[in-house]
Amino acid sequence: MTYEELARTLRKHGQEHVLRFWGELGEEEKHSLAAQAEAVDWEQLGLWEHPEDLSGKGKIEPIEGISLSEIARDREIFRKVGEEAIKEGKVAAVLLAGGQGTRLGSDAPKGAYNIGLTHPLYIFECLIKNLLEVTSHAGAFVPLFIMTSDKNDAETKDFLEEHGFFGYPREFVRFFTQDMAPAVDFEGKLFLEEKGRLALSPNGNGGWYSSLARTGIMKEFPAVEWINVFAVDNVLQRIADPAFVGATILSGKKSGAKVVSKAEPHEKVGVLCLENGLPAVVEYYELSEDMAMARDKEGRLLYRHGVILNYLFEAKKLEEIAGKRIPVHVVKKKVPHLNEAGELVRPEEVNGYKFETLILDMIKLMGSCLPYEVVREHEFAPVKNKTGVDSVDSARELLKQNGVEL
Ligand code: UTP
Repeated sequence: MTYEELARTLRKHGQEHVLRFWGELGEEEKHSLAAQAEAVDWEQLGLWEHPEDLSGKGKIEPIEGISLSEIARDREIFRKVGEEAIKEGKVAAVLLAGGQGTRLGSDAPKGAYNIGLTHPLYIFECLIKNLLEVTSHAGAFVPLFIMTSDKNDAETKDFLEEHGFFGYPREFVRFFTQDMAPAVDFEGKLFLEEKGRLALSPNGNGGWYSSLARTGIMKEFPAVEWINVFAVDNVLQRIADPAFVGATILSGKKSGAKVVSKAEPHEKVGVLCLENGLPAVVEYYELSEDMAMARDKEGRLLYRHGVILNYLFEAKKLEEIAGKRIPVHVVKKKVPHLNEAGELVRPEEVNGYKFETLILDMIKLMGSCLPYEVVREHEFAPVKNKTGVDSVDSARELLKQNGVEL
């Protein structure tokens, strides 16, 4: 693309400021900026002004799940089926570690965060320890695929290599990177992070499968039939939980979701429901007051299945839905960027929009889903914020309650 063509394209979209520092760039920087501008999905970018209507458009109804007491009753049966699947190499795990953890306010990969007090205990270490418990019991390893982004890929790999993957065998670990998307300010103008670079951010956790599928990693593990996808930031996360795997397989559903019962009707958590007969996650603000308060015959909240970002997907169904589009969410975030003078600004407050797809939107495409209830205090300790709710402090407290020495 010539300079004129580039300038014309950017002008057409009201983005000519991207070339503000063009005169100061070397040849290589010019090429890479032009390539970045060429790759911009202008249609997606336009969503800042006219976002898709993502509020539940369909008929929302409660979804039947499997409760703690039902699980307790049948645990042995579920566990056996799940463990057998693990032994046969049918279960893989995907660790979502491409996020930037802006709320935590650290540039390092979240998994490298040391949550220990008297000795180092890294978040990755907590997760791998939990996985090792399962694999040593099953006598077989679960292939572990780690999704990073361009922003933290090298650092994540170095960190895990340096720590010997916390005892997990290297030959069962693969890395893949997710795609990036540009960010815009509140007027829809593209941000620059350097004079010759657009500010690109990871495009949300909904792109994990397309990114994984592109790498060919799945071909290295042809026996895999189920993929357990989970967030990096829940330090009590149970990975490849045999009972969860077994229950989902036996249910005949194409996916499963670990859920916790909502602590109170208005808890700010996405809830697994049915939307027009298909499983879907409805955000807390999309539930009407009546729905939030509604209770079943046993007095439990009707819409109680809060999702904790631990899903099981059938691999064959994932292949089938691979080309289908999932909605793009326009999210307000803090975006570091260059100001007009070319100085780097690190905003204290949200200053722009990022464009993200979310894994929870894949549940509907899967067609069926088993909500599998777990005990919140045993399995859910997210590290999202510096202090307060879902913070390092609250996660430490929960780790201690579960007998982990800090
Ligand atoms: P969050 O939605 O909490 O986002 O991620 P985040 O980027 O980690 O944190 P904030 O919102 O900026 O503070 C939930 C999970 O999805 C992963 C995260 O790493 C975490 O495991 N994720 C998120 C990705 O892998 N890629 C993304 O683009 C976003």
